[in-house]
Amino acid sequence: MSLITPGRNIVLIGLMGSGKSTVGRVLAERLGRPFMDTDEIVQRETGRTITELFASVGERDFREHEAAAVRWVSALRGQVIAVGGGAVLDPRNVTQLRATGDMVLLTAPPDVLRVRLEGAGVASRPLLEGEPDLAARLAALGEERADAYKAAAATSVDTTGRGPEDVAEEILVWARSRPGLLSREELESI
Ligand code: S3P
Repeated sequence: MSLITPGRNIVLIGLMGSGKSTVGRVLAERLGRPFMDTDEIVQRETGRTITELFASVGERDFREHEAAAVRWVSALRGQVIAVGGGAVLDPRNVTQLRATGDMVLLTAPPDVLRVRLEGAGVASRPLLEGEPDLAARLAALGEERADAYKAAAATSVDTTGRGPEDVAEEILVWARSRPGLLSREELESI
């Protein structure tokens, strides 16, 4: 990260299992930027897991913690940020994130997301726990959220059948052409 003129934030959005955190870490590494994850911030700030928060205070309170995490990361520059899959449903969050960053939507069909999430991925995601048909639940969420995702995103990348390095590379190629997204040092080094 340049200490003089950092680039804008690169913000990864998309459904659970779309690879936001995995790709985000690779992207951050490639650019030498810090990586931030709003779910991790919420868990650190509250001392509870997302599952515990949903069970104790409920989704509505979780969304307030999430909005606070979004405000916090949006005040920074030169970060790679992964936000929880539901974050951009709140227009306040979109406004905050857009002020200092560009959003990249990661996509994959419900069956691909299901395979990535089965097991540990479901156990840590209260919106999916106990769902008899995971792919159907993910398809429904994708439909409900399609407009919000599309409206927030500056671009989208299909992650189907691709590793995180490959997806990160596509984002970097795109980022080069976005004015102010990468710092001069980053543009020279990648
Ligand atoms: C959610 C996605 C999760 C987490 C919470 C709710 C959602 O984050 O914020 O379980 O509403 O899609 P990931 O997208 O990182 O799994």
